[in-house]
Amino acid sequence: MKIRVSTNGPYIVTGGVPLTVMEIANDDRGDCRSWQKVREYPLREEYALCRCGHSKNEPFCDGTHAKDRFNGTETAGDEPYLENPTVIRGPELELADYEGLCAHARFCLRAGGIWNLTERSDIPDARDTAIDEACNCPSGRLVLRDRKSGEAIEPALERAIVVIENPARGEHGPLWVRGGIPVESADGRTYTIRNRVTLCGCGRSRNKPFCDGIHIGL
Ligand code: FES
Repeated sequence: MKIRVSTNGPYIVTGGVPLTVMEIANDDRGDCRSWQKVREYPLREEYALCRCGHSKNEPFCDGTHAKDRFNGTETAGDEPYLENPTVIRGPELELADYEGLCAHARFCLRAGGIWNLTERSDIPDARDTAIDEACNCPSGRLVLRDRKSGEAIEPALERAIVVIENPARGEHGPLWVRGGIPVESADGRTYTIRNRVTLCGCGRSRNKPFCDGIHIGL
């Protein structure tokens, strides 16, 4: 399975990667709590996903990028967002926060926020909520480690691509790449493989091909 970024064009997905649409579901308080699968596309060996944000056949490319002369220049080449995360050390958990990768899914805001919860991670409820929030973070901005073992706490994710919808806020995108599928740049470099990655689907990210949250409010 692989995702290749094409020059000023779509993501070319090969290897039979499952494709679904999931909505962010809120609880009674309006906090983001879970993912709800609302659509599953028939499995295809190869397909092209829109990267410019203007296809009339979303999430698939319909060729509009060429008419619009989409500039899809990748700017994440040196991956500055993966260096020097903000680190918060709590009693049981350590949080690495790669803020520039934020896709604004907002799971991290519940119960005082993951930063606060990490600092109180000797309390079982706070620890469990922090882990739940980190594991629901689609972009991998938030990575927790167990301080005793030093191991990263990652959700078990099947390899798949998920189109993210947030109907409560009328937000569409980005594309959530789950399970460590390699993403290759237009010039053939493989980006750091991560369990949770979000790719830009609106064409406006300043960190292409990754989402930087700019789709909020479009
Ligand atoms: S990338 Fe082809 S229509 Fe958007």
